[in-house]
Amino acid sequence: MRPVLVKTISQMMQISTKLKGTIGFVPTMGYLHRGHLSLVETAKKNADIVIVSIFVNPTQFSPNEDLSQYPRDIDSDIKLLSELDVDYIFFPQESEMYPDGCKTWVNVDKITQVLCGKSRPTHFKGVTTIVAKLMNIVDPDLMYMGEKDFQQLVVLRQMAKDLNFKTEIIGCPIIREEDGLAMSSRNKYLSPAGRKNALCLHKALLLAKKRFRQNITNSSKIITEMADLIENMEGVIDYIEVVDPDTLEHITELKKGCRILLAVIIENTRLIDNMKME
Ligand code: PAJ
Repeated sequence: MRPVLVKTISQMMQISTKLKGTIGFVPTMGYLHRGHLSLVETAKKNADIVIVSIFVNPTQFSPNEDLSQYPRDIDSDIKLLSELDVDYIFFPQESEMYPDGCKTWVNVDKITQVLCGKSRPTHFKGVTTIVAKLMNIVDPDLMYMGEKDFQQLVVLRQMAKDLNFKTEIIGCPIIREEDGLAMSSRNKYLSPAGRKNALCLHKALLLAKKRFRQNITNSSKIITEMADLIENMEGVIDYIEVVDPDTLEHITELKKGCRILLAVIIENTRLIDNMKME
């Protein structure tokens, strides 16, 4: 069935207050691919009502980033969400989400300044602000987020805990193309040659996992090997780090459950990926 398209905040709030049963929520910026849809499918299995938001959030892009060219296709998004029997699509206007005079930000300290936060210092402030607003409007019981954006997931969990949101945040696995590239709306920017080189992120993570299974645990040694592989495939490294999955603190010896996170620029596109060591 075609989902109900909700375009205003007041309408969304009215609907969500009246809904009976558990509300599962999937916030997105649209241009949906199988990665997004996997979150929706999980939500459909576990919640009575599923709401997906589509909003390209300007405050999480810095002025030199790709806001204006960020891909959009609302008709295709509606079609895909209809096929999954989503109940509501919240598709607000920028002018309503950020009216003139809006002065409040939600900011999580420290864990937003490492990893992606180093090269995108204002990014997470935009993410936490918009997600807090969306959570207030939709008032979900469950919110589904991808491990693809692992730092985002950790940051939003911290925000929800610190601000006493009652929503439970559920992390869902990374969905990849057949050849291993993590699905992302930004993959569309890659040329055919860039698309091939973009495999270096996943290949480097698999190499790390292989070394871990061979009992090589020294983080710097593994990171050096990963960097060589990436540079040989024309990737420009923003960061490669081994971190504790809860605190995002850097760790020097790999151990079971730790994560390796990386950001690599291919052509002009910054791609991220990560993997749990097990
Ligand atoms: P967006 O990039 O559209 O992603 C929406 C959700 O889909 C996020 O939780 C993201 O982690 C998940 N996702 C994207 N690619 C995935 C993949 N390959 N496998 C699994 N999950 C994947 O993330 C955002 O939007 C925004 O920052 C948002 C949270 C909506 C705030 O504006």
